[in-house]
Amino acid sequence: MAKAFADQGATVGMLDVNKTLLDSAASGLPAEQVQTFACDVSDRAAVIAAVDRFAAEAGGLDVLVNNAVYFHYGPLVEMPEAVVDKMIDVGLKGALWSLQAAIPHITKSGGGAIINLSSIAVSISIPRAAVYTSIKGALDALTRQLAVELAPHNITVNALAPGSVVTPGASSVIDAEGWRKRTERTPLKRLATPEEIAASAVFLASDAARTITGVTLKIDAGITISGP
Ligand SMILES: NC(=O)c1ccc[n+]([C@@H]2O[C@H](COP(=O)([O-])OP(=O)(O)OC[C@H]3O[C@@H](n4cnc5c(N)ncnc54)[C@H](O)[C@@H]3O)[C@@H](O)[C@H]2O)c1
Repeated sequence: MAKAFADQGATVGMLDVNKTLLDSAASGLPAEQVQTFACDVSDRAAVIAAVDRFAAEAGGLDVLVNNAVYFHYGPLVEMPEAVVDKMIDVGLKGALWSLQAAIPHITKSGGGAIINLSSIAVSISIPRAAVYTSIKGALDALTRQLAVELAPHNITVNALAPGSVVTPGASSVIDAEGWRKRTERTPLKRLATPEEIAASAVFLASDAARTITGVTLKIDAGITISGP
């Protein structure tokens, strides 16, 4: 995501709890176009401080991408309370705190775009993913709610719903055979890449998309509309 926006000339602020990942992602970008913040998105005060600092140093803020996730599979009845709490703290409350932090700055900039990372899990049942699906469903509802609420400030709010995408997080729970089966099940016989997901985020933040708001865009090679 950061690279896609930086490639368009944007100055990007990357916020992640994992400093090693953060530094590694930032090292591939021009130093003058990136700021990193080792920060837990579930820590409201830390998120607000990081976003305020970014906006002050970058001279404003006009795009927010809510991407962080803490993922855990399991049958709902077996999910420990601490795991459910952490998933909600990162995936839902983290997005809420980031929005609280960013909206005043985006408004001050005269408008912009917010992009929430949803999932096709909201549309089709993913085994053992009840908590994850609940969070992503909430983000979809939040997207539509804020699209109207923030329209007077010239802020568009959309969501991206990827199908399966090979990323470090997803690969920690899906093996090579799992990826092969997921690819085979899509009508297009392929999976979107992280770069393709990021390209859609860049589009939704671009001038070409100024009248697109409240939409959840599926990027799933057709899996959610394919028959048996
Ligand atoms: N990969 C897929 O198949 C897929 C499919 C549908 C939707 N998505 C969504 O796309 C987004 C990105 O997914 P991904 O596959 O790249 O995930 P990932 O697990 O590879 O990356 C998630 C990132 O979030 C960071 N993070 C975790 N907890 C955090 C916290 N408390 N504070 C700040 N950062 C934190 C991690 O360090 C990591 O860099 C997620 O919202 C995910 O739900 C992914």
